[in-house]
Amino acid sequence: MTNGRVDSHTVLYGVIGDPIRHSKSPIMMNRAFKETGVNGVYMAFHVTMDTLSDFVRGIRAMGIRGVNVTIPHKLPIMELLDDIDAGAKAIGAVNTIVNDNGRLVGYNTDGIGYVRSLKEEAAPNIAGKQIVVIGAGGAARGITYALLQENPSEITITNRTSSKAEELVASLDGGSVKLVASSNDKLEALCEGADIVINTTSVGMFPNVSESPIRGEWMKRGAVASDLIYNPLKTTFLQEAEAHGCIIHGGLGMFIYQGAYAFEYWTGKNAPVAAMRETVLESLQV
Ligand code: ATR
Repeated sequence: MTNGRVDSHTVLYGVIGDPIRHSKSPIMMNRAFKETGVNGVYMAFHVTMDTLSDFVRGIRAMGIRGVNVTIPHKLPIMELLDDIDAGAKAIGAVNTIVNDNGRLVGYNTDGIGYVRSLKEEAAPNIAGKQIVVIGAGGAARGITYALLQENPSEITITNRTSSKAEELVASLDGGSVKLVASSNDKLEALCEGADIVINTTSVGMFPNVSESPIRGEWMKRGAVASDLIYNPLKTTFLQEAEAHGCIIHGGLGMFIYQGAYAFEYWTGKNAPVAAMRETVLESLQV
């Protein structure tokens, strides 16, 4: 147990982004280190685009063991690394770097973090389910890629700009899963048939908390309503769906579990998920 003491064996970790001062990752990850007795410290680094390659040299020079990567570096970081995991390659974005003795490998834990959270908190069985994903941006891409590994029967991606949904569907390998593109004006009918409806857009996010991508009443009772937004913790979409008898799943879990996977890749230990969640929730409520 390190008791939070920094000594000459302490290993450095961190998150880079621009902006970065709003990030909850440092409090979450330092709690995870404390909880598991890992002698590590996790910092937030404000790295701008023009210093990104210097930072990557610094990872090797300083022996930083692990780095989380956020906006706007998830794509540009890829060409600066030694290897990219197959999932991150397919998604086209890296949010986690593992430094193995100077060899930097990029992973994407956003999609798998989301799916682990969905399974643990709301929908233990995804196989055979009909899923609607609202939105066709970067978040939708990572999530759809991870959902495809779970063998649902069908995933329909809808978007305000339907051509973007079509492009996303065309760029993913659905395998045996029926993967289709649609537009937001079809959402009412699509939601009636869905087992899981996922909002990946910013509709309903603070400060526009009264907005919602769909009406909760459009969904089947007992179906799962899932929102990537975690500010507010319970969006209008989730409130309406809950009142209608749906199971609801908020966006905080995705953040926690993307961090949990990163922690596990870096340390080889199971992430203390409950403690991580507790710390983040506390910080959101102050
Ligand atoms: P992220 O990486 O978080 O997914 P993004 O790549 O900018 O962010 O994607 C945002 C998604 O939310 C897009 O699908 C966007 O729809 P468009 O492709 O039509 O722009 C969707 N979105 C954002 N604001 C929206 C709104 N007010 N109504 C409907 N969809 C919206």
